[in-house]
Amino acid sequence: MDMNKRPETMERITTPALANAFIDEQVELIRKQVGDKKVLLALSGGVDSSVVAALLIKAIGKQLVCVHVNHGLMRKGESEQVIEIFKNGLDANLVYIDATDRYLEKLKDVTDPETKRKIIGAEFIRIFEEEARKLEGIEFLAQGTIYPDIIESDGVKAHHNVGGLPEDLQFELVEPVRLLYKDEVRVVGHALGLPKNMVDRQPFPGPGLGVRCLGAITRDRLEALRESDAILREEFDKAGLTGKVWQFFTVVPDFRSTGVREGKRVFDWPVIIRAVNTVDAMSATVPEIDWAVLKKITDRILAEVKGVCRVLYDLSPKAPATIEWE
Ligand code: XMP
Repeated sequence: MDMNKRPETMERITTPALANAFIDEQVELIRKQVGDKKVLLALSGGVDSSVVAALLIKAIGKQLVCVHVNHGLMRKGESEQVIEIFKNGLDANLVYIDATDRYLEKLKDVTDPETKRKIIGAEFIRIFEEEARKLEGIEFLAQGTIYPDIIESDGVKAHHNVGGLPEDLQFELVEPVRLLYKDEVRVVGHALGLPKNMVDRQPFPGPGLGVRCLGAITRDRLEALRESDAILREEFDKAGLTGKVWQFFTVVPDFRSTGVREGKRVFDWPVIIRAVNTVDAMSATVPEIDWAVLKKITDRILAEVKGVCRVLYDLSPKAPATIEWE
């Protein structure tokens, strides 16, 4: 039997009862596979790796070692939430690495989007490898591979692809959600008691804010991006739009525009709001957001975010525009 092929008879996990049955079954299977050995997991804080972490903690507790790498390109509060939920809440064996300086140094003056992506991905593998070498007695590597990853890209996850580990660091894989679709992973996540905002969160690219801080990344623009994105999320939440709009975020370009502040001319950055609805991310439409909501967000960004004098709403559908700006 092909372990990576979803059996036609497998029931779709749509209810808490079905999720609990899946969890019980996986806990047994994980215990059987792993025995008393240690398992390593790259915990990004995304839905898939979080659900895998919670499943493994339930099955084997501290035999799981989670490594959370903060590349400095996370959204506001994201790494803190990972620590809060897994270390404080679930008493996980969690290694937290703040690699912000290291990433920003590598990315300095790099303007090409694909080169930025490559640097971010490669640096992740390097850091993960360094940590894996420090830990002793690890025999297994857990991954949040889901069924679409297997069907669409040979089991490789675009955003936390650890397939690039060197030959001498190959572990046996533990992939408990590999036959599940995204919606099923979410149902399982809820049943495991993970917070709603983590389980239902919108897609977030692996390179994170790195591809939304356009051109060469600088700390000040990255800060403006993170703060404006947090305001956008807060106001969409208050307006009941979270969960109704598929993906939304801000973008900070690498050019300035003229403004006036306290009677003086300034030369500050624009912030672009991007919001889209889509089924499969292959094409997307732009939702008609209530003017009052857009105005409130604009006022808050202009008042609260340093170095910004203009806010724009991107009206472009995909195609021809992609969802991300880079
Ligand atoms: P585009 O911009 O191609 O985005 O219309 C489609 C979806 O893919 C996400 N995206 C990425 N996800 N690594 C990822 O993990 C990436 O490099 C990347 N680039 C785009 C994007 O957020 C959207 O959901």
